[in-house]
Amino acid sequence: MNRDLQNFPILRTERLTLRKLSKKDYQEIFQLRSDKEINKFLDRKPSKTLEHSLKFISNIIENESDTLFYWVITKTGEDKLIGTICLFEFSGNLKKCEVGYELRTDNQGQGIMIEAVREVLEYAMTTLGIKTINARTHKDNQSSTKLLEKLNFKKLDVAIENNSNVVLFRLNF
Ligand SMILES: CC(C)(COP(=O)(O)OP(=O)(O)OC[C@H]1O[C@@H](n2cnc3c(N)ncnc32)[C@H](O)[C@@H]1OP(=O)(O)O)[C@@H](O)C(=O)NCCC(=O)NCCS
Repeated sequence: MNRDLQNFPILRTERLTLRKLSKKDYQEIFQLRSDKEINKFLDRKPSKTLEHSLKFISNIIENESDTLFYWVITKTGEDKLIGTICLFEFSGNLKKCEVGYELRTDNQGQGIMIEAVREVLEYAMTTLGIKTINARTHKDNQSSTKLLEKLNFKKLDVAIENNSNVVLFRLNF
């Protein structure tokens, strides 16, 4: 797979446009990555300053490749970032990867993320030729667990990184 970085894969669904991350998203990235509710089950350091967020964005943009896809979720017609979704941790000759996602709290409970994840799974399967997608989630993260189960991800009975709080889900195409 040779990804043409000039042509970032913009994805569209009924309500959403998934576009490339840009430096102009720094305020929304800061809000998302410093939100206590969103970070509750995520194993990451919260963004502390707008500069951190800008650095995070630069790092993503520089590292976008055939092993990192990072989409900004927007409502079609509104360019504002409401969430993000990414494919990363490619392995197995690029046939396997992991999906990660987060959505602003005021946009949750409307089926927005499942709509976005469905589209990314379709892209992964049909365009990238991915055969297996993993998703890691905290055992108490009910919203994420529900979403994965609705998409037919199966919970694996394996220990992850010696952390009994983390559950691995897998979808095979
Ligand atoms: C995980 C997360 C993205 C789930 O968001 P969400 O909005 O609950 O997810 P969905 O898109 O699947 O929406 C499902 C809800 O929308 C409701 N809904 C409303 N309209 C809908 C529609 N048209 N289609 C589908 N569901 C719809 C569903 O009934 C469901 O509500 P319920 O949970 O009360 O049953 C969100 O909780 C989040 O960002 N969490 C913080 C980050 C995180 O934990 N990420 C996961 C790391 S692995």
